[in-house]
Amino acid sequence: MFIRVSAPLLASILAFSPVLAEDAVDPAREAVLARGQVMSDMGKALRTLQLGLRQGADIATLLLAAETVDMNAQLIGNVFQTEAHAEGSEALPAIWQNWDDFSQKAAAAAELSAMLAEAVDNEDLKAAGDLSRKLTAACAACHDVYRGKPDGVAPAQ
Ligand code: HEC
Repeated sequence: MFIRVSAPLLASILAFSPVLAEDAVDPAREAVLARGQVMSDMGKALRTLQLGLRQGADIATLLLAAETVDMNAQLIGNVFQTEAHAEGSEALPAIWQNWDDFSQKAAAAAELSAMLAEAVDNEDLKAAGDLSRKLTAACAACHDVYRGKPDGVAPAQ
């Protein structure tokens, strides 16, 4: 059933809806969501790729996974550019205090993911396996230093 809502009523619903208002204007929250999306899409695709390599999946499946990893890896530097913290975020302030080092680690992962996608495209699965392990190490190299517990608490040493 179509429910008619008059324009003034709709305006007042929007104006007095704290959830809608907050979702629309909180740039820190948006930034945290965007980088979480990039990271989790990249992680899922990398797992799919590594499982596919072990199980002998067809090249089209491997290539889709590798290109999804690469597409997201190329975005790491961008999605972290603005310092933003929000509830549940694991990003440590050290990222923005050591931006050159962080962006070098992002670039290293992006370079490996591009080589990985190319190896899969060339159907060189031996190289793809090696590169996927190197990439996993590059993920960990950054997480070890810049990813803490939710709300920016440094990981226990
Ligand atoms: C240059 C640094 C850097 C690199 C490289 C990096 N990450 Fe991350 N990753 C982070 C940071 C920082 C966070 C925490 C972000 C937050 O919570 O705001 C994170 C979070 C994540 C998360 C949790 C996302 C969520 O919120 O659900 C996953 C999954 C993840 N990374 C996977 C990967 C994988 C897989 C790779 C390698 C292919 C990778 N990351 C490479 C810095 C990096």
